[in-house]
Amino acid sequence: MRSSQEDKSVQTKNELIKQAPGTDIADFFQTIRQQTLRIVEPLEIEDYVIQTAPFMSPPRWHLGHTSWFFELLLKDYLPGYKIYSEEYLFYFNSYYERFGTRIDRDKRGTRSRPTVKDTLAYRKRIDDGMLELLSRSQSNPSADLLALVRLGLEHEMQHQELLVYDIKHLLRDQYEPTARREPPQGDAVSGMAEVEGGLFWLGYAGDDFAYDNEKSSHLVYVQDFAIDRAPVTNGEYLEFIRDGGYRDFRWWFSEAWQCVRSENWQAPLYWEQHGGEWIIRDFSGVHRAEDKAKEPVTHVSFYEASAFATWAGKRLPTEAEWEKAACLPPLETTRLNFPWGDDSPDLSKANLFENELWGVAPTGSFPDGRSAYGCYQMIGDVWEWTSSDYVPFPGFAPEFDEYNDKWFVGQKVLRGGSYATPQAHIRSTYRNFFHPNERWMISGIRCAKTI
Ligand SMILES: [Fe+2]
Repeated sequence: MRSSQEDKSVQTKNELIKQAPGTDIADFFQTIRQQTLRIVEPLEIEDYVIQTAPFMSPPRWHLGHTSWFFELLLKDYLPGYKIYSEEYLFYFNSYYERFGTRIDRDKRGTRSRPTVKDTLAYRKRIDDGMLELLSRSQSNPSADLLALVRLGLEHEMQHQELLVYDIKHLLRDQYEPTARREPPQGDAVSGMAEVEGGLFWLGYAGDDFAYDNEKSSHLVYVQDFAIDRAPVTNGEYLEFIRDGGYRDFRWWFSEAWQCVRSENWQAPLYWEQHGGEWIIRDFSGVHRAEDKAKEPVTHVSFYEASAFATWAGKRLPTEAEWEKAACLPPLETTRLNFPWGDDSPDLSKANLFENELWGVAPTGSFPDGRSAYGCYQMIGDVWEWTSSDYVPFPGFAPEFDEYNDKWFVGQKVLRGGSYATPQAHIRSTYRNFFHPNERWMISGIRCAKTI
């Protein structure tokens, strides 16, 4: 007879595997690990070690750090496992105090060792160890182990997205992805959708994987509001710039205005002015902003998103408003998993990493992914800034030490994922968070209004 602990293990394993692309956690592990290598495949050896800003990390570091995460697991769960290298523990730790001293984040690009070759050998050794561990525990996996493997894979997918941000900072139009597809044509879409207020269950209440910061699901009261049917476009943002938006203190919070002045911001990141004309440099080349007028604006900070919304006579949505507009159809009491329903994301519903666009799609794209309110592209394309502070939900209980719980101060919540977010990684309850001045990530704007 099975013990209740064994029942829990089997049940948890099934829950963990449910969302995975294969039927087996080892397949899922290999799929996700290979995906990371495909992102770096087009890089030249020099590209792996350069750090172009204190906030980005060299690609070599991401390859090692994601492996370091799994090595900690091997240390605890694989009998006889010996640490690969003390030096790697120091270099590849990110911010975890409990794992000892580490290199400062802004110094990750100051070392040529471990070399790329050594880092890839380390990665291979960790992969071999993990596959051995997973095959040994196949018949009787512990719930703790499976939860940590799944966390390691979610962590790896987070770093895949960070790799895209960092490679963009490093190379922009010089990066040639292994595969790239053409963006679709968008429907004409404009205006705001009106959403009736009321009580709403905010946060994650399912039984698949979700981060601890999405829980507990709890009741919030939302006033009637309206929300944009599409993300703010480059064309709309150009109007803000041309109207002197970056030179008028009235649109900016005091702290934001100081930042605009000290950083000399005049446009989003990756916009350049050539002969009086704004151009955007991205993975697909160099373009006139006018020619990208229908695409969602991206690489804007919370400061810029808020200033734009104020200038437009609107405001940013709270995360409760965003989630209600995305998941709770009018007059319904049962929420959907995604804006389009309960099915997992696919290529026809949202512009995520697997679409291989390596950029945003025009607004009005992916009509199959619309919410019940007719809001386009809530999942994918750009992470959307909300006005909500990144703080724990009522009933929050940390499930993993030093993962989400130590960041609950001074950051803002973004929702919905971007064109660099893997399909298996996104949920409508996913709470991303960044500091209000950051803008190297794929962040955009969808405005709201109280009605
Ligand atoms: Fe990490």
